[in-house]
Amino acid sequence: MARLVIEGLLLLAVFVQCGGTSDDRGSDTPNYARTYFELFLNGISSDEDNPFNSLSLPRTDYLSQAETRAIPARYASQLMHRESQPQNFLTDIMLMRTLAPLVEKDTLDEMEDRIQNERIYTFAAVLLCNCPMEYIAEDGELKGFAIDLINEVCKLAGKKCIVQHDAPYKCYRHEAGLHSVAGDGLLGRQYDACTTYVRTREREHCVAFTESYWQQNTTSRFFVRDGNHDNFDPANITGKTIGFMDGWVSDEACLSHGRNWIDGAAKLDPGKAVYFKNRKSMFDAVASGEIDAAFLFAVAAYGVTENGFDVLGVGVECGIQSTSHFMTRKDSSLLSWFNPTLRLMKRTGQYHKLCHEAVAKHGHKGKIRCV
Ligand SMILES: *[C@@H]1O[C@H](CO)[C@@H](O)[C@H](O)[C@H]1NC(C)=O
Ligand SMILES: *[C@@H]1O[C@H](CO)[C@@H](O)[C@H](O)[C@H]1NC(C)=O
Repeated sequence: MARLVIEGLLLLAVFVQCGGTSDDRGSDTPNYARTYFELFLNGISSDEDNPFNSLSLPRTDYLSQAETRAIPARYASQLMHRESQPQNFLTDIMLMRTLAPLVEKDTLDEMEDRIQNERIYTFAAVLLCNCPMEYIAEDGELKGFAIDLINEVCKLAGKKCIVQHDAPYKCYRHEAGLHSVAGDGLLGRQYDACTTYVRTREREHCVAFTESYWQQNTTSRFFVRDGNHDNFDPANITGKTIGFMDGWVSDEACLSHGRNWIDGAAKLDPGKAVYFKNRKSMFDAVASGEIDAAFLFAVAAYGVTENGFDVLGVGVECGIQSTSHFMTRKDSSLLSWFNPTLRLMKRTGQYHKLCHEAVAKHGHKGKIRCV
């Protein structure tokens, strides 16, 4: 059976390349390739195992030029429209690969559309703020404006979408002293996008962003133990150890934007930047004196000052225009439909309707900050 398939494919390829599609009708030169192909088609017709039988190929003694030209397209069309049985799957892929260069562009586009329409897009909600954008509700459900928006955009665009939770450092991550990079979850295609990300220069080297949908406050400041007994100077951090959250926007690159009013912010000494995966561990490290201060942006610092920490210094802005976006791989097909749909929703008022509804649905978690 496998031998038969391979033989058929080889013959088909030879057949098409050696005159099956040529136009010189008047030529008397025997077309051996075509003869072999016809023999092959007729010869296999009684074999029940033969995969070509299921495609109901022409079984004529003589194939016209027009017919021979139409064969690849007919194969492709039949492959595309029949229910693929698991046992035929490999055969179908082999046939499709052989046929792809031979069929019309329209047929290929139609196949591409079908694949795209059946694809499921996944979004990782990182839950780094406890705010109306995304949060875990009292009933345990994942809720928020970002999730409502994903559902609405996908519905309008006719796409199937799923939201799942993953840790922020799986979407984006840091190592002290190095340029930040996209996380394994996003790069490893475990999902297509991550929710609620702010654009930064460094991030734009690594990932792509959709249209904005939320106004974020990325003002970042230092947090120290209540009373600042060690006299941490937020205007001079030379030689100090600073804590950051792994994958979050308030990183070393952001801190360096404050170089004009924070001495030592341009570049931390090696070993003086510590990245944490867990916000509580970072504040425990501040409390124990393991680090001198934590550097964190406003939205992610909820509940901190109420729990024994002081906030110090002039804020540093971390995000470009401080807007939130869905963050995706640069090669993602999501951008091609998500952006036009969201732009359309903004023009037609559907986006603002969703913002308005969010006040009642998620307003108890804070201010609705639509763009
Ligand atoms: C900052 O602190 C370092 C070390 O304590 C010191 O050498 C430096 O002069 C200070 N910079 C300013 C502007 O005070
Ligand atoms: C952002 O939050 C800080 C508090 O950390 C506040 O001082 C500032 O006014 C806020 N900015 C905006 C634009 O709301």
